[in-house]
Amino acid sequence: MCGIIGYSGPLEARDILLTGLSQLEYRGYDSAGIAYFDTFSDIHVVKKIGKVANLKSICALETDTAHCGIGHTRWATHGGVSDANAHPHRAGKVTLIHNGIIENYHGLTEEFDLEDQLASQTDSEVAAWVLDRFYEGSPLDAIRHLLERIQGSYGFCIMFDDRPGEIYAVRSISPLVASYTHSGALIASDLTALIPYTRSYFVVPEHHIVKLTGYKISLMDLEGNAVSPEMMKVDWNMDSAMKNGFPHFMLKEIHEQPEALKQTILPRMAKGIPDFEDDRIPDSLFTRCSQIHIIACGTAMHAGMVAKALMEPVLRIPVTVSIASEFRYEDPLIDEKTLVMIISQSGETIDTLAALRLAKSCGSMTLAIVNVKGSTIARESDYVLYTHAGPEIAVASTKAYSVQLAALYMISCRMAFVREKFTRSEAKAFLTELLDAIPAMETMIRKKEEEKHLVTHLIQQNDVFFMGRGLDYAFSLEGALKLKEISYIHAEAYAAGELKHGTIALIASKVPVIAIATQEHVFAKMISNVREVKARGAFVILLTKEHAAVEEGLADIHIRIPDLDDRFTVFPIAVILQLIAYYASIGKNLDVDQPRNLAKSVTVE
Ligand code: F6R
Repeated sequence: MCGIIGYSGPLEARDILLTGLSQLEYRGYDSAGIAYFDTFSDIHVVKKIGKVANLKSICALETDTAHCGIGHTRWATHGGVSDANAHPHRAGKVTLIHNGIIENYHGLTEEFDLEDQLASQTDSEVAAWVLDRFYEGSPLDAIRHLLERIQGSYGFCIMFDDRPGEIYAVRSISPLVASYTHSGALIASDLTALIPYTRSYFVVPEHHIVKLTGYKISLMDLEGNAVSPEMMKVDWNMDSAMKNGFPHFMLKEIHEQPEALKQTILPRMAKGIPDFEDDRIPDSLFTRCSQIHIIACGTAMHAGMVAKALMEPVLRIPVTVSIASEFRYEDPLIDEKTLVMIISQSGETIDTLAALRLAKSCGSMTLAIVNVKGSTIARESDYVLYTHAGPEIAVASTKAYSVQLAALYMISCRMAFVREKFTRSEAKAFLTELLDAIPAMETMIRKKEEEKHLVTHLIQQNDVFFMGRGLDYAFSLEGALKLKEISYIHAEAYAAGELKHGTIALIASKVPVIAIATQEHVFAKMISNVREVKARGAFVILLTKEHAAVEEGLADIHIRIPDLDDRFTVFPIAVILQLIAYYASIGKNLDVDQPRNLAKSVTVE
């Protein structure tokens, strides 16, 4: 959460910072601000609540030139949304921006007697004042002393009044990437802000200091010893981070799913079955384990729920799915015979990262399924399987979810093969069916206009229920989350048989129920559950396969997906559920890509 950018170089710094903040805005958009050295080498701060556009209009009035500065877009943690709480924070000779949470800021406020000095309610400003107290002309010494005193997570970019043209940065947990480019030195909380200037970058190692000047970027340890950065290459292109003519990133990303699936699946096919040799994932990882534990948050966790329902019946070993924020505080029943699969689009979600570290400390084998290359989770897990969705900008995850599923389906197939649950021809057939899901997704995307009318009734309601059985239940969880987060309609997903154990009391006239019935072995049971809610007056939107037999009048709206093997229906169903959420958000005139209170990358607890 919170977007960070810093620049020092020959170009107009304000332009670079503001453009970068627009790219990073999906990380948080409660307020935005920049600080830069002006023509007289004084630090000038401009910050404002609201989106980056607000800040841009204020900055348009500034006339002086700047060549070094830092910028921040905020997702509020400590302290409400106000101009004072916006970053950058000034404290004596220090100006800084921060991503993360300083957990002991209360203690520091007392210890350094800061109460009367604070202009904001933020933990970040406390860190700025503590740094200022330590600053006696040596940024390195002051930063080292600060790090000795603070607890929590941080990515800081710092400027000192008497060091024009210089930016210092340091991080723990919160991500920072940096690069020296033809246009100057750049640092940011993620790659999207660097892509316009460079393809090569390095991930700032934790507890190291980066110094940016107009002509160079240097990395050192806390003692000041030079360290060579480990350079990496970006393989995303700028187009994939732009809207390309779509009105919203979310719609663009929904459209990109078939291609993203191909990118994730095709390079990993050898002789018709999944093969992870190029990912350096050995088969022994899949044969040694006696149980699987999947850990993730939100949408990624829902992908894990689908994987559980898919894997257990084939592999015949226990598959447990944990919410990372719960798992990390448990005393988990995992050991060296457990394969822990960590799923994360960003690779930076703090709870997921902490869960990974806990799993490793229990001796478990860890395999991360991650979209962002070089992210912390990717680097720290024993093995990584990258999904190839490209940058996902809309806060609501769409293509990242379907490629996570594709990766999990591939793993499931390879595991079944190497554990002799699938013959080669069964594994081949599985993969062929997986590939068949791609045109099925394309069909649903092509028909998107037809689905607009679906939401007319939904958007007038306060509550929506989703229900399904087996795999369909796992899909429902994601459908409900998607609807909630961008349309602000309360939505709940139920295992269809469970509804009558209490919640059916809420089904009254016209209450929408989205029933997913694509699993043949429970189809008849599902239809009975649909009848139960229909009998109470529900407005039923029913999702089935093309040739499912459904009696006239059972559903108010009936959407059919192409006939696929039951195990693969999630792919076209995901598209429908995403489109329902998308059109509901549009229908309510909401901000689709940047829904309230959310941020793309959740790097705080
Ligand atoms: C919802 C959504 C979130 C993320 C969750 C985990 O649309 O995007 O629920 O799935 O915050 O994020 P990652 O996958 O980056 O760990």
